[in-house]
Amino acid sequence: MARLTPKTASLAAVRLLVCIQFVPATRDNPPTPVPDRVYATAPADVRTVLDDSCKNCHSNQTAWPWYSYVAPFSWIVAHDVHKGRRKLNFSEWDTYSPKKREEKMEAICDQVVNGDMPDGKYLLIHRNARLTQEEREAVCTWVESLC
Ligand code: HEC
Repeated sequence: MARLTPKTASLAAVRLLVCIQFVPATRDNPPTPVPDRVYATAPADVRTVLDDSCKNCHSNQTAWPWYSYVAPFSWIVAHDVHKGRRKLNFSEWDTYSPKKREEKMEAICDQVVNGDMPDGKYLLIHRNARLTQEEREAVCTWVESLC
C-alpha cells in the first residue's frame, strides 16, 4: 500500500471530491399546484422579504445557486430546501387547512422575531437576506392580517 504522505493524502482528497460529484442531489422546482395567492396578499415591503430571505427554501420557485451543483454543498442545499418546503411552502399555501395556516402564521412571526429565520448558514452567503427590525414587524403585521 502507498505510504500516506501529504502528497498522497491530497491526491486522495481530490479523488474523493471528484467521486462524490456522482452522488446526485435533487434540485427540483415542482409545479405549483394552485396559484399562490398568499403572495398576492403581501404588501411590497413584505414581498421583498419573502423574495430575498425566504422564497428559496419555502416555495417551489427556488433559484438553485451554482454551488448547489457541487457536492457536498449540493446535498446540504437540497436537504435544507426540501426540509424547508415540507415545513412551510408558500406555493402550496392554498392547499393548507385553516388550522394549518393559523399555525404557520404564528410560526412565521415567531421565527423572524426570534431571529431563527432565515437560517444562519443562508445569511453567511446571502448578506441581503438579513432582516431589519422594521422588516420583522412588517412580516408579523402581514401574517396577523391573513386567515
Ligand atoms: C436556507 C433555507 C431557509 C431559508 C432561507 C429560510 N428557511 Fe425557514 N426553514 C428552513 C428549514 C430547513 C426549516 C426546518 C427547520 C427544522 O425543523 O429544523 C425551516 C423552518 C421554518 C419555519 C417553521 C415551520 C414550522 O411549522 O415548524 C418557519 C415558520 C420558517 N422556516 C419561516 C421562514 C421565513 C419567514 C423565512 C424568511 C424570513 C425563512 N424561513 C427562511 C429553511 C429555510
